[in-house]
Amino acid sequence: MTRVLNKVVLITGAARGIGAAAAKRLYDEGGKIVIGDVLDEEGTALASSLGERATYVHLDVSSKASWDNAVAIAEKTFGPLNVLINNAGIAHQAYIKDLALEDYQRVININQTGVFLGMQAAYPSLLMGKNSSIINVSSIYGLVVDLHSMAYVASKFAVKAMTKVAALEFGRFGIRVNSVHPGLIKTPMTGVESSDAAFGYVPLKKRDHAPDRAGQPEDIANMMLFLASDESTYANGAEFVIDGGIIWNRETKAKEEYFKNVAE
Ligand SMILES: NC(=O)c1ccc[n+]([C@@H]2O[C@H](COP(=O)([O-])OP(=O)(O)OC[C@H]3O[C@@H](n4cnc5c(N)ncnc54)[C@H](O)[C@@H]3O)[C@@H](O)[C@H]2O)c1
Repeated sequence: MTRVLNKVVLITGAARGIGAAAAKRLYDEGGKIVIGDVLDEEGTALASSLGERATYVHLDVSSKASWDNAVAIAEKTFGPLNVLINNAGIAHQAYIKDLALEDYQRVININQTGVFLGMQAAYPSLLMGKNSSIINVSSIYGLVVDLHSMAYVASKFAVKAMTKVAALEFGRFGIRVNSVHPGLIKTPMTGVESSDAAFGYVPLKKRDHAPDRAGQPEDIANMMLFLASDESTYANGAEFVIDGGIIWNRETKAKEEYFKNVAE
């Protein structure tokens, strides 16, 4: 229960979903948790349910002023940051012909610019810590593409690349930066929390991806815990995929299909 003992951790988008699971997991391992979100009611309730080592701060990741305020409150409450988890994100689906500029920019502002602003705002604070860690949440859609997701895919590929630039710049100062790439996880973002069938689990199973269950927020929180802890001090600029084998399965099936066609 001490894997991140006394580490000061700021998690964005932590009022629900993957971020909330990370807040709980890291709290249980001794972390001092700052929950940042725009959902004030949910965030405040989560912080009080966790206990004294957790607090909530209103943080709109697309606003520089909001970041400066959140980092200042984190430092004032618990001391300099050791861990930043850039988790806040939104999804938007539209074919390119239907994608409104304001929707495209909204996704980029939160998913991509939010990560840049976060790393910039937290950097001086993380410098004061030892073995500091930044964890940027990308997606499998930061590694492969899909239809009708131009804005989301653009933002998540950017997060992967920005992670590597930051790893180069910050590594020598003892701050490592890695990206996490979840597959399909049951959260409010993906729409369904209760039913495997409604969530799309059945079609996924038909595609033979490895584990016989849907992804849960805790699957990603466990990886975040590893990257936040000193167990991962040799990992920097790397991509950590937790997708139940979706990408691997997709690539394997594509190769099988290709060679079948070549043979025929
Ligand atoms: N659920 C999945 O299948 C999945 C897959 C791959 C990647 N991801 C990524 O994981 C992260 C978390 O997603 P989730 O599934 O938990 O989604 P979610 O919608 O359940 O949670 C996202 C949180 O981000 C917050 N948020 C939105 N805009 C914000 C802003 N401007 N400032 C601060 N907070 C803001 C929301 O209020 C919410 O609490 C996202 O970056 C998402 O892109 C999710």
